[in-house]
Amino acid sequence: MKKVLSIIIASIITLSTSSAADIIDNDLASTTRLKNTMRKFATGLDQIQKGIIYNDRDKIEMGVRVLRQARKNFLKKHGEILKKQMPGDPKMAMHMAKKSAERIKKFTKMMNGQVHNTHDFSKIAAAYTGIFNQCVGCHQKLRKNYVK
Ligand code: HEC
Repeated sequence: MKKVLSIIIASIITLSTSSAADIIDNDLASTTRLKNTMRKFATGLDQIQKGIIYNDRDKIEMGVRVLRQARKNFLKKHGEILKKQMPGDPKMAMHMAKKSAERIKKFTKMMNGQVHNTHDFSKIAAAYTGIFNQCVGCHQKLRKNYVK
C-alpha cells in the first residue's frame, strides 16, 4: 500500500512539474511571438516615417503593408500573454489591448486611403502620430520592463 501511495505521489509530482514547465514554455513562446509582432510594428512605423520625410510614396505603402500584416488577429494572437502583463486586472489589460488594436487599425486604414490620393503627407503624418501614441500608451501601462 505504501509503495502504491508513493508511486501515486511521485506521478502527481512529475505531472505537476511537467505542466508547470509547459506553462513556462508556452509563455516564452507567446512572448517571442509578441516581440516578433512588436518588431514588425516598429519596422512598419519606421518605413512610414522615412517615406514621409524622403517623399517616397512606395516606402509609405511598404510600411502600411507591414503594419496591416502585424496587426492582423492581434488580440487573438497576443491577448492571453498581454493579460499576464497586468495580473491584478487582466480584464483591463484586454480592454486596453483591444482599444489600441482598434485605433491602430483605424489609423492604418486612414493611411492606406490617403497614400495613393495625395501629395500632401500631413494626414499620413497625423495617422502616424495616432499610431505611435498607441504604442507609447500601451507600453507605459502593460510593458513590465518599461522603466529599466
Ligand atoms: C496592447 C499593448 C501594446 C501595444 C499597442 C504595442 N505594444 Fe509594443 N510591447 C508591448 C509589450 C507588453 C512589450 C514587452 C514584450 C516583452 O518584452 O515581453 C512590447 C515590446 C515592444 C518592443 C520590444 C520588442 C523586443 O524585441 O524586445 C518593440 C520594438 C515594440 N513593443 C514596438 C511597438 C510599436 C512600434 C507599437 C505600435 C505600433 C507597439 N509596440 C504597440 C505591448 C504593446
